[in-house]
Amino acid sequence: MHIAIIMDGNGRWAEKQGLPRTMGHRAGVLAVEECVRAAANLNVTDLTLYAFSTENWKRPRPEISALFRLFNGYFKNKALELKKEGVFVRFIGRRDRLSKAVLKTMYEVETLTQSGDRLILNIGIDYGGRDEIVRTTNKLIDGVIRRKILPSDIDEDLFFKYTDLGFNRPNPDLIIRTGGDRRLSNFMLWHAAYSEIEFSDTLWPDFTH
Ligand code: IPE
Ligand code: IPE
Ligand code: MG
Repeated sequence: MHIAIIMDGNGRWAEKQGLPRTMGHRAGVLAVEECVRAAANLNVTDLTLYAFSTENWKRPRPEISALFRLFNGYFKNKALELKKEGVFVRFIGRRDRLSKAVLKTMYEVETLTQSGDRLILNIGIDYGGRDEIVRTTNKLIDGVIRRKILPSDIDEDLFFKYTDLGFNRPNPDLIIRTGGDRRLSNFMLWHAAYSEIEFSDTLWPDFTH
C-alpha cells in the first residue's frame, strides 16, 4: 500500500493563532513524525510526502530558508531513529538547486537508511511532476544517444523506471491533500493516473489523531 500526501495548510494554521508562518511549518514537522510512525505501524509499504514544490521557490526568501533549516534539522536528528525503525528514506525531485549542506544531509540519510525494509519514505523536495516528466524524458534521450536504450524499448514501464520513484515500487494507491484546496499542485502527475484522491479540510499540523 502506497500513500502519498500533499501536506498543505501550515501557514494558515499559524496565521489562525496569530503566529508567524514558520511556526506552522515547525508544527508541520511534528505531524510528519507522527505520520511516519503511524505508517510504519500500519499496512503501508510506501509513504510519499510532498515537502517543497518546484513552485515553492516563489515564496519569500526567509520562509524558504526556514523550511530548509527545518528539513535539515529533522533529517539530521531523526536519521538514526528512522534507520532503527526500518525506514528507508529517499528524496524525489531536482538536486541541482539545493544547497551543499542540504544535499549532504540528503545523501547521508539515504545511505544510512538504505537497508530499511519496513517502510519506504519518499520525500519530495524541489519536486514537480512536470519537471520530473521532462527530466525523465531527458534521461531516456541520453540513454538512446549512449546506445543503452533502443527507441523501440521506450514504453510506459521503462518510462516509470526512469522517473524519480521508479525502482519497482507501486504507484500511490491513495493521495491525500490536507488544507482544503482541491488540486494536485504538480504532485506525481505521472504516478497519479489511477490513484484515489482524498481531500481533507484539516490543516496539516492538525492532521494527527
Ligand atoms: C504547506 O503549507 C507546506 C509547504 C508548502 C512547504 P503552506 O505553507 O502552503 O500553508 P498554507 O497553504 O499557506 O496554509
Ligand atoms: C503544495 O502546497 C506543495 C507542498 C505541500 C509542498 P502549496 O501550498 O505550495 O500549493 P499551491 O501552490 O498553493 O497550490
Ligand atoms: Mg499551501
